[in-house]
Amino acid sequence: MKKYNAVIFDLDGVICHTDKYHYQAWKAVADELGIYFDEEINNRLRGVSRMESFEIILERYEGEMSEEEKECWTTKKNDIYKELLKNMSPADLSAEVKETLDNLRANGYKLAIGSSSKNARFILGQLGLGEYFDAISDGNNISKSKPDPEVFVKAAEFLGLPAEKCMVVKDAEAGINAAIAGHMDSGAIGDATGCGKATYNLTSFRDLWKAVEE
Ligand code: BG6
Ligand code: MG
Repeated sequence: MKKYNAVIFDLDGVICHTDKYHYQAWKAVADELGIYFDEEINNRLRGVSRMESFEIILERYEGEMSEEEKECWTTKKNDIYKELLKNMSPADLSAEVKETLDNLRANGYKLAIGSSSKNARFILGQLGLGEYFDAISDGNNISKSKPDPEVFVKAAEFLGLPAEKCMVVKDAEAGINAAIAGHMDSGAIGDATGCGKATYNLTSFRDLWKAVEE
């Protein structure tokens, strides 16, 4: 019997790389507000919801800001971000990622997305993966952000599978904590490998195959 029946993937930082677009969009907003912002601060926004990201940026803001103003600025950031996302195409999907996904699928694994982003479906469409996944759980169907496990719990629910049959792949520590809270095994990729809490540390996307079949 297989250890897992499904793999739930984070999108940003796992399936594709949107960091530079998030950075450019937040930088435009921060510049307009006169707030210092750099790539190091941008790295802290990984896996963090849009509004929580803005709160982190506002740590360096001297003035006061109402909830309505925050809504306006985050909407502005998202408008800029969505324009930038139009630059993405199927060429942004690496051969390694596509091969691994195809290989998992061919071997009977269900594949899902578990992402905090409200733009997940748009990004998947840009990558040519609009109809690819068996389930998509994203920022539009959750009320609590990571490290709360809601986004992954919902993904498992959409797939109709128990948590222990799903493995989560994440690039941020908050996501690994969320997987643990949701009683799911996890594979850490990139920065998340440093936290030492994932079931598997994946040095490359292809390692995922070894992890699920081990
Ligand atoms: C996560 C990103 O996937 O989605 C975060 O890692 C981002 O950086 C969050 O803030 C929300 O994204 P969006 O697309 O809804 O603004
Ligand atoms: Mg991520």
